[in-house]
Amino acid sequence: MEDGKYGKLVNFVHSLIKQSYCETENLRFIDATCGNGFDTLFLCKVAGQNGHVTSFDIQEQAIARTKDLLNSNMEYVNYELIHDSHEYIGKYINHNIDAAVFNLGYLPYSDKTVTTNGETTIRAMQNMLPLLKKDGRIFITTYITHDTGEEMKDISFYLRSLDKTEYNVLHINLINKENTPPELFIIEKNA
Ligand SMILES: C[S@@+](CC[C@H](N)C(=O)[O-])C[C@H]1O[C@@H](n2cnc3c(N)ncnc32)[C@H](O)[C@@H]1O
Repeated sequence: MEDGKYGKLVNFVHSLIKQSYCETENLRFIDATCGNGFDTLFLCKVAGQNGHVTSFDIQEQAIARTKDLLNSNMEYVNYELIHDSHEYIGKYINHNIDAAVFNLGYLPYSDKTVTTNGETTIRAMQNMLPLLKKDGRIFITTYITHDTGEEMKDISFYLRSLDKTEYNVLHINLINKENTPPELFIIEKNA
C-alpha cells in the first residue's frame, strides 16, 4: 500500500487529494499554513509542472523551512511562498482554486505559543470560498491541544452555517482514540 494509514489524518488528506487530482492539468492549490513544508511539497508534486501552489505562513522560520524542503526536493518551481496571514489571501490570489489545505495549530519543533486561531482561520475561509472552483474542496485538519479546542469549536460552528445547497461539509474523526486526536473538516463546493 503506497498511501499512509487513514488513522493519521494528514495522510488521509493526502490520499484523498491524490485520488481526486493526480490526472488533472493546471491545478491551483493553496497551503494555508505551510509550517515545515510537507503539505506544500506534496501539493507541488500533485500539481506538476503545469500546476501551481501558493503557501502562506506568518512565521519566517516556517517559510525558510518550506523553502529548504522544496529546494532539495523539487526539480522545477511551481510554487510561491507568502510570508503573511492566510486571511489576506485576497491580496495575493486572483485565480480560482481547485483545493486548499489548512493544517492548524503550531509549528512543530518551534514556539508552541504561535498558533492558528478561530477568528483568523474563519476569515481566511470566508475569503477563500468565493475563489473555490465548482467541485473544489478545502481540507481542514484541526487540533484540540493548542487551545483546549476553542478553534475547533469555532470552525465547527461556522461550517454548520454554510449554505447547504452551495456546500457539502464533512466532519471526520477517530472515534476509538484517547488523547484528543485531530479532527478533519472538508468543505466541498456544489455550485
Ligand atoms: C501545524 S503547522 C502546519 C504544518 C504544515 N502544513 C506542514 O506540512 O508542515 C501550523 C502552521 O500555521 C502557521 N500559522 C499560524 N497562524 C497563521 C496564519 N494566520 N496564517 C498563516 N499561517 C499561520 C504557524 O506558523 C504554523 O507554521
